[in-house]
Amino acid sequence: MGYSDIYAKWQADPEGFWMDAAGAIDWVRKPSRALNDSRAPLYEWFTDGMVNTCWNAVDRHVQAGRGDQPAIIHDSPVTGTKTVITYADLQDRVSRLAGALKAKGVTKGDRVIIYMPMVPQALEAMLACARLGAIHSVVFGGFAAAELAVRIDDCKPRAIIAASCGVEPSRVVHYKPLLDGAIDMAHHKPEFCVILQREHEMAQLTEGRDLDWHSLQHGAEPADCVPVEGNHPAYILYTSGTTGAPKGVVRPTAGHLVALQWTMRAIYNCGVGDVFWAASDVGWVVGHSYICYAPLIAGCTTIVFEGKPVGTPDAGTFWRVLEEHKVKSFFTAPTALRAIKRDDPTGALIKDYDTSTLQALFLAGERADPDTVDWAGQHLKVPVIDHWWQTETGYAIAANPLGLGLVPIKIGSPAVAMPGYDVRVLDEGGHEVAPGTLGAIAIKLPLPPGTLPTLWNAEERFVKSYLSHFPGYYETGDAGYVDAKGYLYIMARTDDVINVAGHRLSTGAMEEVLAGHRDVAECAVIGVADALKGQSPLGFLCLNKGVDRAPADVVAECVQLMRDKIGPVADFKRAVVVDRLPKTRSGKILRATMVSIADGKAWKMPATIDDPAILDEIRVALQGLGLAKA
Ligand code: COA
Ligand code: AMP
Repeated sequence: MGYSDIYAKWQADPEGFWMDAAGAIDWVRKPSRALNDSRAPLYEWFTDGMVNTCWNAVDRHVQAGRGDQPAIIHDSPVTGTKTVITYADLQDRVSRLAGALKAKGVTKGDRVIIYMPMVPQALEAMLACARLGAIHSVVFGGFAAAELAVRIDDCKPRAIIAASCGVEPSRVVHYKPLLDGAIDMAHHKPEFCVILQREHEMAQLTEGRDLDWHSLQHGAEPADCVPVEGNHPAYILYTSGTTGAPKGVVRPTAGHLVALQWTMRAIYNCGVGDVFWAASDVGWVVGHSYICYAPLIAGCTTIVFEGKPVGTPDAGTFWRVLEEHKVKSFFTAPTALRAIKRDDPTGALIKDYDTSTLQALFLAGERADPDTVDWAGQHLKVPVIDHWWQTETGYAIAANPLGLGLVPIKIGSPAVAMPGYDVRVLDEGGHEVAPGTLGAIAIKLPLPPGTLPTLWNAEERFVKSYLSHFPGYYETGDAGYVDAKGYLYIMARTDDVINVAGHRLSTGAMEEVLAGHRDVAECAVIGVADALKGQSPLGFLCLNKGVDRAPADVVAECVQLMRDKIGPVADFKRAVVVDRLPKTRSGKILRATMVSIADGKAWKMPATIDDPAILDEIRVALQGLGLAKA
């Protein structure tokens, strides 16, 4: 059956569709029904099933005789190491770590924060939590201590598992001082921390709180998989929201298993024994779903790549990994390809490698620009498949499903809605718009299995952020349109989220940081177009009356402040001091107009503007930064 038939099958009987898909998962107790709508518009899936994620990702493959198959290949050009971990090894490592955590009191429902770079131990820590029914929350290494502290206070972990350091091409990232700083800042204190000492840096352990990864596990009794209810939270992953406070997206266990297993064949056309590579980071949703869980649930070999698309050592590193590990499906962000294309525009380095095992390249995380898609397709000679999803959904809302037979590729579109998703484009009043008309992209409730049922400890915020604006729908926060053939086009965000190098960031959160500078009276942050990273943040600062310091000094302090408060991942390097910000008569800052001016795009004078002359001042300031070119 092709895509249209499968989608129609789902439409005709959504519950039957997902019950069938649930057959590919090992259950301790099979669910009696798929959808639980008893609290609509809050929905759950497979509520009364009993299941364990780690069993499905690890043990069942060993039981099926695949213990010798590589489960994880860690390929780390930044440390010059490669490690292969078979499914049998993984079972041994994970059950021992889980046993050690259990001996320290970690039990079902406890939260555990994981703050680690791209090392296999990060996946082992995630799986050990899953084995015990503990709820992990992985925090990306590029966040500052303050961001880690916010997450500690929100999810109140019993334990934190961290590495001594991360290795970036330009520097060693000292995780341990960041961790110590975060714990100092946070009101909640974890009972203990487990520290993986890496060769590049031996961290100082805090007596009575920190335990060495290896010593902790010495002599530990391996732990068995603990069955959990279908709606038990598998993990919490924080993502940027419309205010400074990150949203704790909850991932429900059973739906996550069922949906990810389904996507591995239907979308990525991968199964037992295939090598799958997502070049992302475990700190992001792509890393959760497609570095750790989905490939392992499906019995594939997953690659954990600790490097960058360029500079580790060169723009051929991705192609080397494809050849060396015989990758079948590869997933990355368009920004990574743009970085490669910039260093190797003719694709000369691709020719040095045999990438013939590759069947397709998948892109997500930001809009896939046609130039990059064309370039990749031309040089790799495989279909380049854009697909669209979010932390909240955990897997693709729209894609071109390779395993079901591709629908014709239309460059610029992440193709068509996947089964489970009834995608509609709405106007402000919540009415569906005609094909080709821009609107807010919404998904008719219920969302499919595996998607967020709520936000951690914030049900009201969940309802307000996602379900209130368009009753009966989930609001994606993206704007775009559908064409006459049902292809989706994702054009922009409707909120303050910007996308920098495939990383989702909130300009609101950045404004909160700038407003905290003692000389800043008022500020705005916008995302301006960036040829490499898609968008790049830019700050506007109005200083307090009487401040007569050099603007460059204030800017430098603000750049440092952002690094200290949000982290290097914010990539906040530019700000400009201006006298006034352009506003509407009711006092709203005209950020969208500022973006258009910065990007040199056509724009209309907003009818509600208070003082049009300010826009000229903004244009001049932007031109000083080399922006606002007509
Ligand atoms: N831990 C600590 N710091 C990190 C980090 C991590 N895991 N990841 C990135 N950083 C730091 C970088 O060192 C850099 O710091 P700097 O300002 O001191 O140089 C900063 O955060 C910005 O990093 P990055 O966005 O990676 O920019 P870059 O210029 O180093 O590299 C790209 C540019 C395009 C090569 C890179 O962004 C990239 O590979 N992007 C792909 C992103 C991706 O896969 N996203 C997942 C979505 S699917
Ligand atoms: P994240 O939650 O970090 O995965 O970011 C999700 C957001 O990234 C989406 O809401 C979109 O704004 C953007 N995004 C992800 N994938 C795509 C895509 N294929 N095309 C356009 N935008 C995308």
